[in-house]
Amino acid sequence: MNTVAMPSNAVTPAVDPRQHRPGQPSGRVITVLSPKGGVGKTTVATNLAVGLALTEPHSTVLVDLDVQFGDVASALDLTPQHFLTDVVRGAATGDAMVLKTYLTLHAATGLYTVCGVDNPADADGVTGDDVGRLLATLATEFRNVVVDTAPGLSEHTLAALDRTTDPVLLASMDVPGVRGLRKELDVLDALGMFPGERFVAVNFADKRTGISVADVAATLGTGVDLVLPRSRAVPASVNLGVPVLQSGVRDPITKALRSLVARFTTEDRAPERRRGRHFGGAR
Ligand SMILES: Nc1ncnc2c1ncn2[C@@H]1O[C@H](COP(=O)(O)OP(=O)(O)O)[C@@H](O)[C@H]1O
Ligand SMILES: [Mg+2]
Repeated sequence: MNTVAMPSNAVTPAVDPRQHRPGQPSGRVITVLSPKGGVGKTTVATNLAVGLALTEPHSTVLVDLDVQFGDVASALDLTPQHFLTDVVRGAATGDAMVLKTYLTLHAATGLYTVCGVDNPADADGVTGDDVGRLLATLATEFRNVVVDTAPGLSEHTLAALDRTTDPVLLASMDVPGVRGLRKELDVLDALGMFPGERFVAVNFADKRTGISVADVAATLGTGVDLVLPRSRAVPASVNLGVPVLQSGVRDPITKALRSLVARFTTEDRAPERRRGRHFGGAR
């Protein structure tokens, strides 16, 4: 299942997602990925999705593509009736109207979700083609499709990247984390994916680690777009199943995550797009 396949092409959005109307292609697909686990992908994906849903009602669906061990349901305190396996099989396949009835609503924010499989063994039944079809259909119905992924470049993640308009690459702010991200960027370069359009974020920023944003940028050979500070509010929010952008807890990480949401909701995104610039709650 974790084999690396060459994607056919990197899809560019045919329509500006800000002009999106349900039933028409194509909303943006924002995929959060990293070479390693435990670096904050689910934290970033759930908060970004919640932030977008709160800003623009009925605009956003979050898809848990950490197919085997996804924890989006837990992070949002959801009890899904349907899982990824149900959504990519049977009546929901390719039919946007039926598909919407298989989504799990996060009532507090209006976010729709597709939660990972109920049993890790079921993950084998989900193919890259299933993922591609699902994301394409969701993008006809939602302005924002946010995708959480498993570590590395699995078949599912590559299939998601094939449909992705906005990749968010994440690393923990330590030497192995940043070196891992460098290698992942090299693979994307080799595949010709998203040249010049990658959004790079580092998590667990902490002055005591002795690593600066400049060090990270030098190792990566690219600018850092977002710095997320280490924060005690995050594990507490995960344990409660209430993301920080839902509770609005006063914390530097809330501010940094809001700036990420603003990148996708602000009309003029040009300043954030300049390479080498970084913004967020810690430097
Ligand atoms: N900025 C942060 N500060 C403190 N803890 C964090 C931060 N980001 C994530 N965490 C914690 O680290 C753990 C891993 O985060 P998670 O988002 O599940 O990573 P991933 O999805 O990449 O495996 C979780 O327990 C989460 O609460
Ligand atoms: Mg995760």
